[in-house]
Amino acid sequence: VGDERDLVEQANNPRIFANVRDAFPHPYTFADAVAWIGHCQELPDPPNVLAITLDDCVVGGIGVHPQADVYRLNAEIGYWLGEAYWGRGLATEAVRFMTDYAFEQFPHLHRLFAGVFGFNHASQRVLEKAGYTLEAIHREAVFKNGLLEDEYLYATFRK
Ligand SMILES: CC(C)(COP(=O)(O)OP(=O)(O)OC[C@H]1O[C@@H](n2cnc3c(N)ncnc32)[C@H](O)[C@@H]1OP(=O)(O)O)[C@@H](O)C(=O)NCCC(=O)NCCS
Repeated sequence: VGDERDLVEQANNPRIFANVRDAFPHPYTFADAVAWIGHCQELPDPPNVLAITLDDCVVGGIGVHPQADVYRLNAEIGYWLGEAYWGRGLATEAVRFMTDYAFEQFPHLHRLFAGVFGFNHASQRVLEKAGYTLEAIHREAVFKNGLLEDEYLYATFRK
């Protein structure tokens, strides 16, 4: 609580929305920030969603989302960073941190994966730098902003 304005400032950006699922609010309003922070406060301990911060300000978010049934040893990693902070290695640092954190804090996890839109070369590079491997290209799996896109599937495993 108290980070709502920072969150809106960073998250309310069509260049972020273009690269994430449609469940990410757009436009990203103050009410969306209140709801998201409320949701984060209710998370069990240890939390599976973390803020990316710089000088104590929220500049992005990152989470791992456990899967169910036969996929229950997997979690999907997702992240975003405010545009003002792109190109400084912050997302790579955050993904590296979250990957280690997830395997440490959630001992059942065996595999982490991410689905990246085909045109999102920066995020593909982030995952490669963080040790993930390209496993598959799901052709035209994504319908985003009115266009069909490929999804690049990356994964890493508990060492
Ligand atoms: C993708 C995103 C997380 C990257 O964050 P970032 O902090 O700028 O990433 P980093 O600086 O750690 O690394 C980016 C890498 O991509 C490279 N890159 C950036 N734009 C690129 C492009 N258009 N083509 C190819 N590579 C590109 C950078 O050069 C860098 O690689 P390098 O270190 O080898 O030079 C950020 O742009 C973002 O939040 N975008 C919107 C939301 C999103 O895409 N979320 C992820 C969904 S899977």
